[in-house]
Amino acid sequence: MDIKELKKVFLDIYGGSEEGIRVFSSPGRVNLIGEHTDYNGGYVFPAALTLSSTVIARPRKDGLINLAVTDLDDRVSAPLDRLSDFKNIRWGNYQLGVADELQKAGYKLTGCDMLFHDTVPIGSGLSSSAAIEVVTAIALITLGNEAYGISGDIDMVEVAKISQLAEHNFIGVNCGIMDQFASAMGRKDHAILLDCRDLSYKYVPLELKGYKIVISNTKKKRSLAAVKYNERRAECEKGLEILKKSLPDITCLGDVSAEQFEQYKHTIEDDIIRKRVEHVIYEDDRVLKSAEALMNNEFEKFGKYMIESHNSLRDLYEVTGLELDTLVEEALKIDGVIGSRMTGAGFGGCTVSIVREDAVDNFIEQVGKAYQEKTGIKAEFYISEIGDGGREIQL
Ligand code: GLA
Repeated sequence: MDIKELKKVFLDIYGGSEEGIRVFSSPGRVNLIGEHTDYNGGYVFPAALTLSSTVIARPRKDGLINLAVTDLDDRVSAPLDRLSDFKNIRWGNYQLGVADELQKAGYKLTGCDMLFHDTVPIGSGLSSSAAIEVVTAIALITLGNEAYGISGDIDMVEVAKISQLAEHNFIGVNCGIMDQFASAMGRKDHAILLDCRDLSYKYVPLELKGYKIVISNTKKKRSLAAVKYNERRAECEKGLEILKKSLPDITCLGDVSAEQFEQYKHTIEDDIIRKRVEHVIYEDDRVLKSAEALMNNEFEKFGKYMIESHNSLRDLYEVTGLELDTLVEEALKIDGVIGSRMTGAGFGGCTVSIVREDAVDNFIEQVGKAYQEKTGIKAEFYISEIGDGGREIQL
């Protein structure tokens, strides 16, 4: 749906005129490498997609936030002073969670009518939720500032942090900062090398001459992903506590070098905890090496790190499963594929593969066929375009 059509749907739902209508958009992301490192103070290497969440918004004076979306019949009407009553609604809690956190952080909000339109596939590990959170934050801050005569640019890093808090406090997923940061701060044709310890970052041009980034969606329904995610995070925290006894200065696993880990890994007696920590330590190393390989146009080297990353997520972190493993295995059988791995939290969702341009059609056909034979599910494929982060769309 283009903006003109969206405006029409908006006016059909809410009535009134086009006056005061604004449009905002914020993307999903693909993470190239650096998985389950963000909440451990490590490095990540995501890029914003052109798949996005778009919102049409118009202020209203009665302090109500009204929400609608193009692909569901759900409607929500929530007073700004009673947002926490809406924690358990079926749809709309990401938006209201963000509104709640913005108010707690001191932002002045105005009531508004909002219509969402999402093109990031939901539950696919491409951060559909971060796209919604970030676009909501930008829209609410912009309308609120205007209503109260406040000027100045929006602090996009703060938008990412507030969106993350909404996910922790309203949704109950103890996620890291990567998804919201990539959605807020993405840049066209660049990946972001982000140090999650202090949020320092660098844009790295993503010019894979002769290659395409292909995303393959397992289409597997994710169950218990939030519970298992929080479980992994808690396991890393246990590992950190144990290592702190030998390395009292460390504050996160991102502070621990591979040498230090090798020296003290025997102090972690629990096999599972030791495996989780081992993944984080070496994955963190791989991110820096991968970014360097990319900057030197050493794509095959980059691809090798991607494969190592997937193997580690499968064997040590144990977040892949039959569907993701099958997609990666089948991808690597295709001539012209130099790297493939799961992306995002895991437990279903998507893989990301680097595929030589002239091999893309064959990739989609062969991998799709073999995957369906082995799992009974029809995969979906997207050739990713790397787009900009959250912003207002000028009409
Ligand atoms: C999810 C979380 C991120 C990150 C990834 C795994 O996408 O939202 O913060 O932890 O999983 O790398």
